[in-house]
Amino acid sequence: MLTVRAPATSANLGSGFDVFGVALSRPADVVRVEKADRTTIEVTGAGSQYIPEDPEKNTVGAVAEALSAPAHIEIDKGVRPASGLGSSAASAAAAAVALNELYDRGKTRKELVPIAAKGEAVVSGDAHDDNVAPAILGGFTIATDDGVRTVDADVPLVACLPDIVVSTRDARRVVPDGAKVSQLVETVGNAATLTTGMHRDDPDLVGAGMYDSVVTPARAKLIDGYDDVREAAFDAGATGVTISGAGPTVIAACHEGDRRDVGVAMLDAFDAHGVDSQVYQTRIGEGATLF
Ligand code: HSE
Repeated sequence: MLTVRAPATSANLGSGFDVFGVALSRPADVVRVEKADRTTIEVTGAGSQYIPEDPEKNTVGAVAEALSAPAHIEIDKGVRPASGLGSSAASAAAAAVALNELYDRGKTRKELVPIAAKGEAVVSGDAHDDNVAPAILGGFTIATDDGVRTVDADVPLVACLPDIVVSTRDARRVVPDGAKVSQLVETVGNAATLTTGMHRDDPDLVGAGMYDSVVTPARAKLIDGYDDVREAAFDAGATGVTISGAGPTVIAACHEGDRRDVGVAMLDAFDAHGVDSQVYQTRIGEGATLF
């Protein structure tokens, strides 16, 4: 039996819709695989009651199929589904790394990214790499049609997960069809600022680039209290705040010494809206790890 831990991830970071992603040092999924004649799946942990164990419907079933690697797969969820923290990507990434090793398929980490993305398509209806890339490779990733670029960045982050469910399918339906050129110009500037910040491990530049005026405002309406949580995080010292992935997690960049205050401010602001939430004091971390 082989065991792989794959991290939660945060996609988009505001200015990098469907392109940027970061691996988080916590939380994470743990996946165990064992060779079998046909694929069977067992799910335990956070939100497991909502996750189908049918290989046709579970993200890891598509990965096993793509690698021709039937197995008994045990998934211990640390990342709740429909959280905006790359829950399905964490399981898909862990399964891809584990099954590649179990069956000695010889794929590189980068080659495993599109394979794990097939699992994403099972749950979101769309194959995109911005969660699976950091879940497999770690750090800050830039996923484009040309492939994935990685930056080994280290920035403190606070992820606040409210007790609200937002499905990726629903969150993609509210994305506007188009944007003004002025919004494009603004987003390019922010994305470049953020990328520079990642190269320099600079929370001020990363935070300054975590803004877009197209996708995030449309999705904010799905998250009760979002505007107040964002403002509270800034007041407590956050350098940037946005929706993590498709939401509802709200993610903030900050300096190390401000992480606790930012986390408390976000919890309190959700609480003022009658929404329970939990905070992960986290940072950019490593990709899937084989034990
Ligand atoms: N980039 C994707 C989105 C991530 O925001 O819809 C969620 O899977």
